[in-house]
Amino acid sequence: MAQINSHYQKLQAGYLFPEIGRRVRAFAAEHPEAKIIRLGIGDVVLPLPEPIVAALKTASEEMGRRESFKGYGPEQGYDFLLNAIAAHYQRQGAPVEADEVFVSDGSKCDTANIQEIFATQNVVAVTDPVYPVYVDTNVMAGRTGPAEAGRYGNLVYLPTTAENGFDPPLPQGKVDIVYLCSPNNPTGAVMPRASLEKWVRYARENEAVLLFDAAYEAFIREPGHVHSIYEIEGAREVAIEFRSFSKTAGFTGVRCAYTVVPKSLKARNDKGELVGLHGLWLRRQTTKFNGVSYPIQKAAEAVFSPEGQKAVEANIAYYMENARIIREGLTTAGFTVYGGVNAPYIWLKTPDNQSSWDFFDKLLHKANVVGTPGAGFGSCGEGYFRLSAFGFRENVEEAVRRIRQGL
Ligand code: MLT
Repeated sequence: MAQINSHYQKLQAGYLFPEIGRRVRAFAAEHPEAKIIRLGIGDVVLPLPEPIVAALKTASEEMGRRESFKGYGPEQGYDFLLNAIAAHYQRQGAPVEADEVFVSDGSKCDTANIQEIFATQNVVAVTDPVYPVYVDTNVMAGRTGPAEAGRYGNLVYLPTTAENGFDPPLPQGKVDIVYLCSPNNPTGAVMPRASLEKWVRYARENEAVLLFDAAYEAFIREPGHVHSIYEIEGAREVAIEFRSFSKTAGFTGVRCAYTVVPKSLKARNDKGELVGLHGLWLRRQTTKFNGVSYPIQKAAEAVFSPEGQKAVEANIAYYMENARIIREGLTTAGFTVYGGVNAPYIWLKTPDNQSSWDFFDKLLHKANVVGTPGAGFGSCGEGYFRLSAFGFRENVEEAVRRIRQGL
């Protein structure tokens, strides 16, 4: 009989967001009259901006004509998009070449799949709280021991808490791979430049690789913050960066993202020789992935046009105004609130030390508002709760009103 990959049995319960969905559906079935406001999963609500829709339409029509029809595209992405991405990086002061960019169908998939090019013996460090995908995919790959008290054996957890300003501390000893996310999901904190410099130094000294998730960089509002790890000197030898059109440009249902693997980034093989990671990722992607469709890549290219940038910026500003309304509304109501300044997530302390899931249930039942329990992101998230700023303004205002009145 076929045997399963038993590492899957180490995984704790279901993936966080489907579990939330299950509880909300059960509540809605029991209370069909409830007007539920969903600020749980970070999913965009505003429609695609017009310049992006126009590009999508034109490219779709091209696919319907013999002379402009396209089959398989180039493996890493079409040049028009790779060049637009590289130019965007140059404008941000981050040295990235077009052929170092890999276009994909999402940062979730890329941050999940990247671990495949690393040996199972690598010691992996993650922040706590953390985006669950980084952890679960390493569990599936057999890089961890079983879980105890919410933490997997062999994983190094970096407590990233209010006490250290949500700035991940360096590990005690040597680790090989570190996942960092800034602006952070779930805490909404942005890592200071000095902290990123410290991490790049650590990676260089320890021959570690930083997996830098910058999916929310476009939400940084305050000037002076780092948008790309490659703004930091020396990062091109130690870091892979992930970015996405999902939240930036409303692509959660459209699907397009990109990952940068610099040609100068190397790690060792089992003989101790240095091997470029760019070639390995190319090999992995060309074997397991056939690229993002032409119309979607054209739509993504339109994000970088002057009209596209203006429209996308207007949507981001809308969500960040939501973030301000939540942050200020809850602060005035006496909540301790973090994030929401340079990220679309608000991270709040649950009142009276309630557990994250108790607070989730209370919010759902009393205010009919859905959020995400902090404990779902790791044990340091216990006693915290995440609200997403991705919602229509009237719903966000109503949610804040209900939370202030109803708890
Ligand atoms: C979240 O709510 O944390 C995100 O939407 C999850 C994701 O981007 O996969």
